[in-house]
Order: sequence, then structure tokens, then C-alpha cells
Amino acid sequence: MRLARILRSVVGCVIVATPIIGLMAISVAQQTKPATEKPNPFPLSLFGQAKPSDYVDETKCMECHDQKHADNPMARAYASFQASPHRPFVQAPDLPIDKRGCQGCHGPGGPHIAQVGSDDALSYIFSYANASPREVALACLRCHNDVMTEAHWKRTDHARANISCISCHKIHQDGHPRAFDATGKAPRGPIFPSAAEPRKLLKADQATLCGSCHRQQLNRFRMNFHHPVPEGRMVCSDCHQVHPQSAGAKGDADPRTPTQVATIGLQSDKETCITCHAEVAGPFVYQHDPVEGMTGQGCLECHNPHGSQNPFMLNLYSRGLCAQCHADKLATHNPGRTCWQVGCHVGIHGSDHDPNLLRK
Ligand code: HEC
Ligand code: HEC
Ligand code: HEC
Ligand code: HEC
Ligand code: HEC
Ligand code: HEC
Ligand code: HEC
Ligand code: HEC
Ligand code: HEC
Repeated sequence: MRLARILRSVVGCVIVATPIIGLMAISVAQQTKPATEKPNPFPLSLFGQAKPSDYVDETKCMECHDQKHADNPMARAYASFQASPHRPFVQAPDLPIDKRGCQGCHGPGGPHIAQVGSDDALSYIFSYANASPREVALACLRCHNDVMTEAHWKRTDHARANISCISCHKIHQDGHPRAFDATGKAPRGPIFPSAAEPRKLLKADQATLCGSCHRQQLNRFRMNFHHPVPEGRMVCSDCHQVHPQSAGAKGDADPRTPTQVATIGLQSDKETCITCHAEVAGPFVYQHDPVEGMTGQGCLECHNPHGSQNPFMLNLYSRGLCAQCHADKLATHNPGRTCWQVGCHVGIHGSDHDPNLLRK
């Protein structure tokens, strides 16, 4: 199935590219000074300039990049790749040669092998360790356009901050010398021992991975009341769309997803929350404005999305929570600690019975 998807996207590129090239020709003709199309510089040019004869049988790579050659620092790449989920797909014999096997990611092997031993051997191979984040992204997106396009990726906060695909993903699995420390960090155990296992070739479970850069958010999950990420029942990407298009079916039809990693606007916060908490969303006969999403930041007016010291992850556990918006009621009202306990405004998200949200 997936192979078919990839093949389709390969074929798709050709079909899509044809009218685009046509359009480009028209727009170039219209301009007085034709914009010369710059070919990709090295290392992406490795793919663009390759002749079919530059590609070699990839078992050749094994001659040097195999465990047997312990003196070669790159020696374990071949073995480690055999454990990768990429293997069964990218080694399919019916893939076009420039998308197949090792060379689908690293470029044609012929020139590289011919240069081994010379000083600029690395100028003939796509070395991810030396490529810029953008080059890495473009190399991955040659095949992963179905997950997102470059245009989508560029607009994410991560791409803008020069975070690379391989800051989060590791392609060569365990045993590969750089499998865990491409960012220079030493391997370490999970931050939360029961966190969900890493999936999708992530370098570590999401709490550990994302938390290594987002410590402040991570620390909220250590508070008494939190979404069950430490317990392994949720992951960051349940709420955060790291890849703008990865929602698949939603994909492009959703106007807000491409723009950001997750600085989610108020409407989308609510939608994020109610995918799992539909019961609080009503519809109710008597709705409460902020829950309806009409006031302020919706759910986040009262709840912290990650965790808090207060029950139900509330921002405040006192009348102050309500007084943010209903300060006028402080003077006229019962001085109890909260407004929603002891049977008062219990229908805080909305009520079918009472306009003052007194009963659910
Ligand atoms: C004749 C031995 C030999 C063969 C065959 C060979 N390589 Fe290499 N490769 C090397 C050596 C040696 C280096 C280190 C070059 C350097 O650091 O200057 C290297 C470096 C590399 C690097 C760059 C590593 C980095 O720093 O990121 C990649 C990627 C690579 N090879 C991939 C391949 C692939 C893919 C194949 C098969 C198509 C292949 N090699 C075949 C010897 C070989
Ligand atoms: C899906 C893309 C992909 C495929 C296929 C792939 N590699 Fe890699 N390779 C990478 C990336 C990305 C890195 C950088 C380190 C990492 O993320 O694991 C890398 C790193 C390397 C390195 C450098 C080691 C280092 O320390 O940086 C060598 C050598 C290498 N690969 C060889 C191979 C060989 C040989 C094959 C085929 C058996 C292969 N690769 C298949 C993506 C790929
Ligand atoms: C030559 C084509 C090709 C290239 C280049 C490529 N991939 Fe893949 N990748 C695939 C295929 C095919 C699959 C399996 C089918 C699928 O899940 O869509 C896959 C699957 C994946 C998966 C999901 C694995 C899983 O467990 O489901 C991740 C993550 C991934 N690739 C990341 C990357 C990254 C990061 C790069 C760049 C370093 C990259 N890929 C480069 C073809 C490629
Ligand atoms: C900030 C960390 C991060 C970065 C950077 C990142 N990814 Fe991912 N990627 C993830 C996470 C988390 C998932 C798993 C999402 C999920 O739960 O389905 C994922 C999943 C994937 C998948 C599998 C999608 C699927 O639906 O099976 C692919 C392919 C992929 N990423 C490719 C890429 C490529 C290509 C890049 C660079 C352009 C990239 N990623 C950059 C974190 C990241
Ligand atoms: C290598 C470091 C790194 C990793 C790993 C990482 N991020 Fe980020 N993330 C950043 C940087 C840098 C920014 C840019 C904004 C900033 O400085 O906070 C950012 C931005 C974000 C934003 C938007 C923040 C805002 O203020 O709008 C979200 C949400 C986010 N990341 C979630 C995640 C998630 C979820 C993961 C794990 C799948 C993750 N990040 C992994 C470094 C990282
Ligand atoms: C229950 C859903 C949910 C989960 C799970 C979740 N987040 Fe968030 N996150 C949000 C929402 C909603 C916001 C927007 C907060 C705001 O605008 O004040 C946010 C904001 C962020 C930001 C932007 C900075 C900020 O506070 O505004 C970062 C970074 C972030 N989250 C990282 C993470 C990391 C890392 C994880 C996993 C350890 C994670 N999130 C898990 C919902 C979630
Ligand atoms: C992917 C599903 C998911 C999403 C999305 C989600 N939650 Fe949750 N939420 C949970 C789970 C699971 C629990 C833990 C329930 C339990 O422990 O039984 C929880 C617990 C809570 C609780 C505490 C409930 C209690 O009984 O203690 C509150 C409040 C809450 N979520 C609010 C939110 C808000 C606000 C958002 C949007 C920012 C949100 N949730 C998004 C799954 C989700
Ligand atoms: C006006 C403040 C306020 C807003 C806005 C709000 N909540 Fe709440 N929420 C509360 C209070 C107070 C409680 C505790 C009720 C209790 O003690 O029983 C609560 C409890 C919860 C609970 C756990 C108990 C239950 O009723 O299921 C969930 C889940 C929850 N809220 C989700 C949400 C979601 C999702 C949104 C946005 C659609 C939201 N809340 C908006 C104040 C608010
Ligand atoms: C983000 C602002 C905001 C917060 C926080 C908030 N409310 Fe409201 N609430 C409103 C708005 C707006 C209305 C409808 C407009 C109005 O006041 O007539 C409303 C209406 C009500 C009503 C219906 C009666 C009336 O005055 O119209 C009750 C009862 C109520 N809120 C109780 C609470 C309680 C209890 C809390 C704390 C748990 C709370 N609200 C927190 C904004 C808020």
C-alpha cells in the first residue's frame, strides 16, 4: 500500500511538474529579464546531475560500510540500516534508481567510490552530518512530499529556527555511531520511565525528545495535575501537529494548519481539546461564552494545556478564576472559595437546565 503511495507520489511529481514547467515558461516569456533558474547547489545537485550509470549496486556500499571494517568510522552504516523501517520500502526493486536504497538518500555511489581516499571524497556524497537543515529537509522531502511540502515545512517554527528533520528523526538505528547524538548530545534514558515508546524513527520518546528543547513545557507535566504524557497514555503530537500536513485527510483543507507548528488560535485550541473531551463542548441550551470559544482563549482561559498544581489543570483554584471576567460579581456574591463547588455554578461548561449554570 505504502509503496504504492510513494510510487504514486513519484509519478505525481512528474504529472504536477509538467504544467508547472509550462507555467514557468510562460511567466519567463512575459518578463523582460528572464529569471534564470538556478540549479540546486551541492549536495542536492548530486541527484540533479547524476547519470543512470553513476548508480551502483548498493551491496557495493557494504564492502566498506560494514561492521567487518571496524577501522572505518562509518563502518556500521550498512548493518544499522538493515534494522531501519526504511529498508523494506526503499529497497523495493521497482523504485526508480535515484530513490532506491542507500543512494536514494545519499546520492549516486559511483563518483563517491571512485574518489575514496582522495581529499575531497565528501564532495561526492550527500553527507547529512555536513548538510544544512534546509538541504536535509529537501533531501528527505524528495520522497516525503506526501507528509508535507517544502512550502509547509518552511513556515513551521521549527524550520524557521533551523531545526532539521534529523534533529528529531534518526534514520540509521541503534549501533550506528551517530544514531543518538547527531546534535552532539550524548544518549540518555527517557525522562519519564513509563512514557510511550518512540515511534516513527524518533530519536527518543517524545517527552524526552521535545522536552530536551522545551524544558519549561516539560516541567508542567511534572506538576500534580497534568495530561498523562509521563504515564505513557499521551504524546506531545496528540495535540501538536509537528508536520503541518500530516493530518492526512484534513491536510490542505484546513486553513490554519500549514502556518505554524502549534501556536494554535482559539478556535483551533478548542477543536484540539474537544477531539478527546467532546462531552464538555455541548451543545448546551445555556452556553458559557468562553467555553463556546467566543471569549478570550477558550479552554485556555481556565485550563493549562500541559499541567498545573490545581485540580483539573485549572489556572487558578479560587474565585479568582471566574473574577478574570466577572469581577463585578465578587462584591455581590457568596464569599466561598470557588464558584463552582458546593452545588453552585456546577455547569461551568454549559447547562441544559439553568441560565446561571447552576445545574448541569
Ligand atoms: C571503497 C570503500 C567505500 C565504498 C565502496 C563506499 N564508501 Fe562511503 N565512504 C568511504 C570512506 C573511506 C568514507 C569517509 C570519507 C571521508 O571522511 O573523507 C566514506 C564516506 C561516506 C559517507 C559520508 C559520511 C559522513 O561523513 O556523513 C556516506 C554518506 C557514504 N560514504 C555512503 C556510501 C554509500 C551510500 C555507498 C554505496 C553506494 C558507499 N558509501 C560506498 C568508503 C567507501
Ligand atoms: C532514508 C534515508 C537514508 C538511507 C536510505 C540511508 N541513509 Fe545513511 N544516513 C542518513 C542520514 C539522515 C544520516 C545522518 C545520521 C542519521 O540520521 O542516522 C546518514 C548517515 C550515514 C553515514 C555517515 C555516518 C555518520 O556518522 O554520519 C553513512 C556512512 C551512511 N549513512 C551510509 C549509508 C548506507 C551504506 C546506506 C545503505 C545501506 C544508507 N546510508 C542508507 C540517511 C539515509
Ligand atoms: C528514497 C526515498 C526516501 C527518502 C529520501 C527518505 N525516505 Fe523516509 N520513507 C520512505 C519510504 C518509502 C517510507 C515508508 C513508507 C511510508 O511510511 O510512507 C519512509 C518512511 C519514513 C518514516 C516513517 C517510519 C515509520 O516508522 O513509519 C519516517 C519518520 C521517515 N521516513 C523519515 C525520513 C527522513 C527524516 C528522511 C531524510 C533524512 C527520509 N525519510 C528520506 C522513503 C524515503
Ligand atoms: C520537532 C521534531 C520533528 C522534526 C524537526 C521533524 N519531525 Fe517528522 N515526525 C515527528 C513526530 C513527533 C512524528 C510522529 C507524529 C505522529 O505521532 O504520528 C513524525 C513523523 C514523521 C513521518 C511519518 C509520518 C506518518 O504519518 O507516518 C515522516 C515521514 C516524517 N516525520 C518526516 C519528516 C521530515 C521529512 C522532516 C523534515 C522536513 C521531519 N519529519 C522533521 C517529529 C519531527
Ligand atoms: C532541537 C530542539 C527542538 C526539538 C527536539 C523540538 N523543538 Fe519545538 N521548537 C524548537 C525551537 C528552537 C522553536 C522555535 C520557537 C522557540 O524558540 O521556542 C520551537 C518551536 C516549537 C513550538 C511553537 C512554539 C511557539 O512559541 O510558538 C511548538 C509547539 C513546539 N516547538 C513543539 C515541539 C514538539 C511537540 C516537539 C517534539 C515532537 C519539539 N517541539 C521538538 C526547538 C525544538
Ligand atoms: C493536551 C494537548 C497538549 C499536549 C499533550 C501538549 N501540548 Fe503543548 N500546547 C498545547 C496548547 C493548547 C498550547 C497553546 C498554549 C497557549 O497558547 O498558551 C501549547 C503550547 C506549547 C508550546 C508553545 C509555548 C507555549 O507555552 O505557548 C510548546 C513549546 C509546547 N506546547 C510543547 C509541548 C511539548 C514538548 C509537549 C509534550 C511533552 C506538549 N506541548 C504537549 C497543547 C498540548
Ligand atoms: C488526545 C486526547 C486529548 C486531547 C486532545 C486533550 N485531552 Fe485533556 N485529557 C486527556 C486524557 C487521556 C486525560 C486524562 C483523563 C484521565 O486521567 O482519566 C485528560 C484530562 C484532562 C483534564 C482533567 C480531567 C480530570 O478529570 O481530571 C482536563 C481539564 C483536560 N484534559 C483539558 C483539556 C484541554 C483544555 C485540552 C485542549 C488544550 C485537552 N484536554 C486536550 C486526553 C486529551
Ligand atoms: C470558565 C472556565 C472554564 C473554561 C473556559 C473551561 N473549563 Fe473545563 N473546567 C472548569 C472547571 C472550574 C472545572 C472543574 C469542575 C469541577 O470541579 O467539577 C473544569 C473541568 C474540566 C474537565 C474535567 C471534568 C469534566 O467536567 O469533565 C474537563 C475534561 C474540562 N474541564 C475540559 C475543558 C475543555 C475541553 C474546555 C474548552 C472547550 C474547557 N474545559 C473550558 C472551568 C473551565
Ligand atoms: C474569559 C472570561 C470568562 C471567564 C474566565 C468566566 N466567564 Fe462566565 N461568562 C463570561 C461571559 C462573556 C459570559 C456571558 C456574558 C455576560 O456576562 O452576560 C459569561 C456568563 C456566565 C454566567 C451566566 C450568567 C451571566 O452573568 O450571564 C455564569 C453563571 C458564569 N458566567 C459563571 C462563571 C464562573 C462560575 C466562572 C469561573 C469558573 C466563569 N464564569 C468564568 C466570561 C467568562
